[in-house]
Amino acid sequence: MTRKYHIGTKFDSAAEHYDEQAIVQKEAAIQLVSMIQGLEKIHSAIDVGCGTGFASIEILKHFPNLKLHLCDISQKMLEIANHKLQDHNIIYTQCDVESEEFRTKYDLAISNLCVQWFDDLEKFIQKILKASKYFAFSTMLQGSFLEFSKIFETPGKPSPLLNCKTEKELTNISQSLGKIINKQTKTFNLLFPSAQAAAMHFKKIGANLAQNNINNAFKLLNHRSNINLEYKIFFCLMENKVD
Ligand SMILES: C[S@@+](CC[C@H](N)C(=O)[O-])C[C@H]1O[C@@H](n2cnc3c(N)ncnc32)[C@H](O)[C@@H]1O
Repeated sequence: MTRKYHIGTKFDSAAEHYDEQAIVQKEAAIQLVSMIQGLEKIHSAIDVGCGTGFASIEILKHFPNLKLHLCDISQKMLEIANHKLQDHNIIYTQCDVESEEFRTKYDLAISNLCVQWFDDLEKFIQKILKASKYFAFSTMLQGSFLEFSKIFETPGKPSPLLNCKTEKELTNISQSLGKIINKQTKTFNLLFPSAQAAAMHFKKIGANLAQNNINNAFKLLNHRSNINLEYKIFFCLMENKVD
C-alpha cells in the first residue's frame, strides 16, 4: 500500500465526522480567505485538497460568480463537498494533486491545511504557480502539538506526527518561487478533557496515519485531565513572478 493510498483511505474514513471536529480547519479557512478579499479580477479558482469544502464555501461568499474546481485525494471528502455546494457550478476531481498536471489556467489557487501532507512542497508550488496567478495556502508549522510531541523526544519512540516545516523554511521556499503578498502565523488551541478524547480528534479529522503510535503516545498522558492541542499555522498569499 503506498503512502498516498493510505492518506486517501484515512480521509475517506474521516469524511463523515470531519465537520464536527474540524473547528480549527474552519477557522483557518476563514482567515486564509480574508487574505484574498482585496484581489481583483478573480474569476476562476482551484481548491487544492478541498476536503469538505470549507475554503470554497468562504470564497464563494466574496466571489459568488467564481468558476470553481475542487480536487482532493479522498472521494468521500469530495462527495460531502459536492453535497454542501450543490447549487454551484463546480468541477470535482479526485486525484493526488502532486502527480496531477494542471492544464487549465486559474486566477487563484487556494489550499487550506493540505500541503503538510505533500512529499515535495517546492515542486508543487512551482507547478501551481504555472497554472495560477495567485496561490494562497495555509499549513501546519513545526512546533504544533508541542505538549504531545515532547513525548517523542525520547530516542527510539517513533513519532506519529507529520514532519512540518518552520516559518523560516516556508518563507524561504515561497520567496524563492514567487512574490509574497501577505503572510501571517496564528496559534489555535483546542482543549480536550482527556488523552483519549484528543486521540479520537486525530482519528475523526483523518490525521491518524499512525493511529497505533498516536494511541500509545496518548496512553502516556492518561493521567492528565486536560490536553491542549496547539495548532500553529502559517498563512501565505503569493503571486507568480511571470504575470
Ligand atoms: C486537513 S484536511 C483539510 C481539508 C480542507 N482544505 C479544509 O479546509 O478543511 C487535508 C485534505 O487534504 C487532502 N489531501 C492530502 N494529500 C492530498 C494530495 N496529495 N492530493 C489531494 N488531496 C490531498 C486530504 O484528503 C484532506 O481532504
